[in-house]
Amino acid sequence: MAKIGVVGIGRLGLCFALNLERVGFDIYGVDSNAEYIQSIKSKTLESNEPHVESFLEQSEYLNVSTELAFVLDPEIHLIFICVPTPSKADGTFDHSYIDKVCDEILAFDRPKKETHLIINSTVMPGYCDKLHEKMSAHGYSISYNPEFIAQGSIIEDQQFPDQVLIGEANEEIGNEIEAIYRCFVQKEDARFSRMSRTESEITKLAVNCFLTTKIAFANSIGDLTVQHGGNQDKVLDAIGSDSRIGSNFLRYGFGYGGPCLPRDNRAMGEAAKEVNLELPISIATDRSNVLHRNFQREAFEQNYSKDDQITFTGLTYKPNSDIIEESQRLELAVDLAKEGYGVLLRDRAEVIDQIQAIHQDLFMYEVVSDD
Ligand SMILES: NC(=O)c1ccc[n+]([C@@H]2O[C@H](COP(=O)([O-])OP(=O)(O)OC[C@H]3O[C@@H](n4cnc5c(N)ncnc54)[C@H](O)[C@@H]3O)[C@@H](O)[C@H]2O)c1
Repeated sequence: MAKIGVVGIGRLGLCFALNLERVGFDIYGVDSNAEYIQSIKSKTLESNEPHVESFLEQSEYLNVSTELAFVLDPEIHLIFICVPTPSKADGTFDHSYIDKVCDEILAFDRPKKETHLIINSTVMPGYCDKLHEKMSAHGYSISYNPEFIAQGSIIEDQQFPDQVLIGEANEEIGNEIEAIYRCFVQKEDARFSRMSRTESEITKLAVNCFLTTKIAFANSIGDLTVQHGGNQDKVLDAIGSDSRIGSNFLRYGFGYGGPCLPRDNRAMGEAAKEVNLELPISIATDRSNVLHRNFQREAFEQNYSKDDQITFTGLTYKPNSDIIEESQRLELAVDLAKEGYGVLLRDRAEVIDQIQAIHQDLFMYEVVSDD
């Protein structure tokens, strides 16, 4: 089957590469992390992401290297790019990893026929058009193909997506990207949303911005109900039963966190500023998430004295994950511990180790087993 290049085979890129490999594509994966590449080559990579270890073990067509030249094989004319785009202090994304890969590609000979670069990393609206302008002069087109996946279910989310979003350089390349996905997508009614690069960049951020807004809204209405002495679940169930609203993501609990939702929501607001618009919903949602945590903290303050021990079980941003980034449970625990409460954290060793490295003796810790 066709050869496909993937640059950046981290959490997202490796799952994508494995899904492609399983349906017979000849994958050429590049990653700058030599130790990591070695663990993929030797099939000794340890991953908490379901299916990754077994798919890797069974893989036959996954070729990997640390050298970018590896994907510049004349037989490869599609290269997916899944390198990091960290958030900057102002909430926009740092595109320098993608820029670096593209500059390195330009340092090689011009391709014999047009080569298509497909950006999977999350970027700011307008970025891919600018990159296309630069790269197309050298025989490379740019398309955008972001993923709607969650840590802990990446492989399955890629196989069973609600939609595959394609911001295509042109119809032909859009058809090619769609055909590739159709080889491994197993959800029969998966929607293929095809549009311009910028439209797809906006869609990607807007989906996550909407989800954060819905979560923050649910928690705010829940707080209001609790403050009135009512039952927040009854209220939210009733709101969600309206088919125009729906009950998904409309539950009362900890605020949203993790490596994607908060940053995509903030970036949406910044994206508006870049074209002289205001998108206050993005800021309001971010603020509501903090206010909800404050509400939860006050509830603890009312119900516990400083002599009581408060126990938190499960500190990651969501269940079945090792990620503590922007975990609202953890941030609440930090707030309480800093106020002088004795706080015991219970979680698996890989989670406790991360927290201990940051917060040392702020907490008491208890390691619990996986089951
Ligand atoms: N992981 C997710 O759940 C998820 C979901 C949606 C979007 N995304 C987006 O996908 C992008 C990648 O995220 P990730 O979670 O896979 O990150 P990651 O850090 O797990 O993987 C990125 C990989 O790129 C490699 N890399 C960096 N510079 C490189 C270079 N010059 N050449 C080759 N490899 C290079 C790194 O070594 C790393 O292995 C980000 O923009 C992120 O926002 C991720």
